[in-house]
Amino acid sequence: MPSYLIIGASRGIGYQYLKHLSSEPSNKVVGIARNRAAVQSRVDTDKLPNVRTIQGDLTDAASLNAAAQEAAEYTGGAIDYLIINGAYLSEQTLFLKPTDYIGQEEFFLDELTSSMNTNAAGVLYAINAFLPYVRKSSIKKVVVISSGHADTELVGIADVTEAVPYAISKAAANILVAKYAAQFKDEGLIFLALSPGVVLTMAPSLDNLPPEVSAAYERMTKQFQKYEPSFKGPMTPEQSVAMQLKVIEGVTINDSGAFLSHLGTKRWL
Ligand SMILES: NC(=O)c1ccc[n+]([C@@H]2O[C@H](COP(=O)([O-])OP(=O)(O)OC[C@H]3O[C@@H](n4cnc5c(N)ncnc54)[C@H](OP(=O)(O)O)[C@@H]3O)[C@@H](O)[C@H]2O)c1
Repeated sequence: MPSYLIIGASRGIGYQYLKHLSSEPSNKVVGIARNRAAVQSRVDTDKLPNVRTIQGDLTDAASLNAAAQEAAEYTGGAIDYLIINGAYLSEQTLFLKPTDYIGQEEFFLDELTSSMNTNAAGVLYAINAFLPYVRKSSIKKVVVISSGHADTELVGIADVTEAVPYAISKAAANILVAKYAAQFKDEGLIFLALSPGVVLTMAPSLDNLPPEVSAAYERMTKQFQKYEPSFKGPMTPEQSVAMQLKVIEGVTINDSGAFLSHLGTKRWL
């Protein structure tokens, strides 16, 4: 009866984890969200079995400590898979490159602080809060959802100049994962930074998007084709989560601390 705990489970990839994992009746699934009532209502509407929702915010260590205790009561004491998915994603910085911040240093620092608070510090708060229960598991897997934005080779080949504060915070999360892996390798805990690929989470499908969003996706697809000529565009959350779970299942202590993609490799698209 494996237990899975997803932090940042309200929508997008996080909610898809709840849907996918709860379809296996023997799983115990916990979804942590800033707005518990909203995700609970979605879980009720979708009639997802075996899902416990709990309030928790990555920027609030106390909320995560309380959530950890409540979650462990539900799972029976151990947490087998801790998946830290929630992230600060800023639409304002999505298309800004480093020099766009000339004269906007305060704005840059605000965005960097928000990104680091959730995507790096929040990851540390979350791992520290849930660690006692992960240690009680025989599986002991901690997965931090990262991004290809943090890969220097992809950035260089595909000219990914944008989303600077976000990319910095994801690179920070990757090194944090490596630090935890180093600290806990003798205990058999497995830490993984995992890129989910390019996933359509802003809308149900590519059809009927506002023209500016459609144009942005087309630009991004051309850009990414410089890195991977066969890249056709974003996949669905269903496709991504199924691929991520295969990677999570397959990793062993020898992979601990790695940064891998949904393909289980260092190819990001
Ligand atoms: N979609 C992609 O193409 C893509 C590519 C690379 C990496 N990723 C990564 O995949 C993960 C999920 O992305 P997504 O596309 O599913 O994004 P999304 O649809 O925008 O969902 C973001 C999730 O993060 C949660 N969140 C934000 N701040 C939080 C906080 N302080 N505490 C707890 N939860 C918080 C949100 O909860 P609220 O509802 O409360 O805001 C929401 O559940 C992120 O780590 C992202 O960086 C996505």
